Amino acid sequence: MQSTSPSTSDPSKGKILVTGGAGYIGSHASLALTSAGYEVVVLDSLVYGHANIVKDVLNLELVVGDTNDRSCLDSLFKKHSFDAVMHFAAYAYVGESVTQPDKYYRNNVVGTLTLLEAMKDAGIKKFIFSSTCATYGIPTVVPIPEDHPQNPINPYGATKLMVERILADFDHAYDLRSVAFRYFNAAGADPQGQLGEAHDPETHLIPLVLFAALGRIPSVSVFGTDYDTPDGTCIRDYIHVTDLAQAHVQGLEYLMKGGKSDRFNLGNGSGFSVKEVIETARTVTGREIIAIENPRRAGDPPALVGSGDRARNVLGWDPQYADLKTILTHAWAWHLKRHG
Ligand SMILES: NC(=O)c1ccc[n+]([C@@H]2O[C@H](COP(=O)([O-])OP(=O)(O)OC[C@H]3O[C@@H](n4cnc5c(N)ncnc54)[C@H](O)[C@@H]3O)[C@@H](O)[C@H]2O)c1
Repeated sequence: MQSTSPSTSDPSKGKILVTGGAGYIGSHASLALTSAGYEVVVLDSLVYGHANIVKDVLNLELVVGDTNDRSCLDSLFKKHSFDAVMHFAAYAYVGESVTQPDKYYRNNVVGTLTLLEAMKDAGIKKFIFSSTCATYGIPTVVPIPEDHPQNPINPYGATKLMVERILADFDHAYDLRSVAFRYFNAAGADPQGQLGEAHDPETHLIPLVLFAALGRIPSVSVFGTDYDTPDGTCIRDYIHVTDLAQAHVQGLEYLMKGGKSDRFNLGNGSGFSVKEVIETARTVTGREIIAIENPRRAGDPPALVGSGDRARNVLGWDPQYADLKTILTHAWAWHLKRHG
């Protein structure tokens, strides 16, 4: 375990451990937490994260360590008195989870269980968890409500569902209160341009479309043009990462006020097709984007759209950037700054 850059934030509202805070969504959530007055410490293995984002941009303490390392967690919980843990640390490549399921069960399930056991022993009782719409599998109803059956069709989704079940059992046995957020497609970048999406390898549609606009890749692939959707391409619900981050602050405040364990979709309730994303990106960037049409990929549902009504009604979540053009404009500004 290696620790750097002590935080200078006002600790008055509470101290939060953010696992995976050097990654895409965790870094935006860390920014939202510090903006809301929380003190944040980041734990990240840096397998995928970016140390400079935590140390130089967010100016937070970064503990380089793994959720599977119980002694690292114990010394972290001895050093700091945390009010809650926000858990973003996981592997999230669906295809890789099919070819290397052991890697995913160990990191996403065993790593989370190790973290929860260390929290139990340290007396930390509040937990916010990054779950996913992939726990639903193929939807039978769209927009998907939270009580839709959960039948994941890949190991990645299964790992997240297993953690949701562990959380229900830890609530019952140990009074550990949790909020599980089932994200749809996280997209966009911090509107102020400080943070953005920097996955390597990148598999998400919006950054790939913008990479094509930048000439970093020759073209973008469209998988399937014969779906039962208005233009034949798949529809996904894109959630601005800053709206996701804000939901986490509201979920935390809900638990801090004594809210019971619950799970919430973070979706806008409407989606955009692959063709719409590419067309809007052409408008936003003013650049040529070559799209190559390919056959359908196995396991891609035609439409994945989530109802965010529960998060709105219970948490008061009020997404500010649901519009695709805004999402693409913020993402484009970030990618231009990095690679333009
Ligand atoms: N990006 C999306 O659209 C999306 C959708 C649904 C759910 N999620 C979930 O949200 C979370 C964050 O996703 P992201 O896109 O920011 O991913 P990311 O890869 O950018 O961030 C994850 C971070 O966790 C770190 N990490 C991984 N395993 C670790 C471990 N065992 N110990 C410590 N650090 C570890 C990585 O180094 C990385 O910095 C993940 O749990 C993911 O499953 C993401």
